[in-house]
Amino acid sequence: MTTDKTKEPTASTSNVDVLMAIRHRRSIRRYTPEPIDNATLTTILQAGLCAPTAMNRRPFHFVVIKDKDTLATLSAGKKYAWMLSHAQAAIVICGDNTVEDRPEHLYADCFAATQNMLLAIHGLHLGGVWLGVSQGSEWSALLQETLRLPANIIPTAVISLGHPSEEKPIPSTWEPEKIHYEAW
Ligand SMILES: Cc1cc2nc3c(=O)[nH]c(=O)nc-3n(C[C@H](O)[C@H](O)[C@H](O)COP(=O)(O)O)c2cc1C
Repeated sequence: MTTDKTKEPTASTSNVDVLMAIRHRRSIRRYTPEPIDNATLTTILQAGLCAPTAMNRRPFHFVVIKDKDTLATLSAGKKYAWMLSHAQAAIVICGDNTVEDRPEHLYADCFAATQNMLLAIHGLHLGGVWLGVSQGSEWSALLQETLRLPANIIPTAVISLGHPSEEKPIPSTWEPEKIHYEAW
């Protein structure tokens, strides 16, 4: 997949209110065969690049995958990544540990970008799911090798996405016992 990366994308809009997106987003693992166009992917990537980062170091890199063989390879490498085999795209969220050498901040920065992109995906009426990449795992090594990541580029999360072919109810998430005012 090649796209012109040099142009700053024009601002995109969504008719989904931000608080509604946060409340209604669910992990979507089943997709229709309809492809995702590159302009839509760019909008999602731009949302990731808008995430806050510690000291504004912006250590993240995103690897976009649409190639079916690559998606199949990554799907086969982890039990809970089965949905990649029929996803229309995946985004691998990586962090450069030469830009951010504090692992807790590297992961925090990458995860902020991951959640931004999941919300953008929901706002665009697409569906996505966050796939965890454990440090030192076989899947991490597979990502590193398959995507030819340099040694300083750490895969931290993968988003599987497509046009949704499942709908999920909005669960009750209000847990008052987890809210503490002023002190514990
Ligand atoms: C760090 C992290 C790792 C996750 N890894 C996986 C995964 O490997 N496979 C998967 O299907 N879902 C994965 N999920 C999605 C969770 O299962 C999902 O967010 C959770 O069940 C709540 O459902 P919801 O997203 O629909 O609210 C992961 C989520 C997070 C935050």
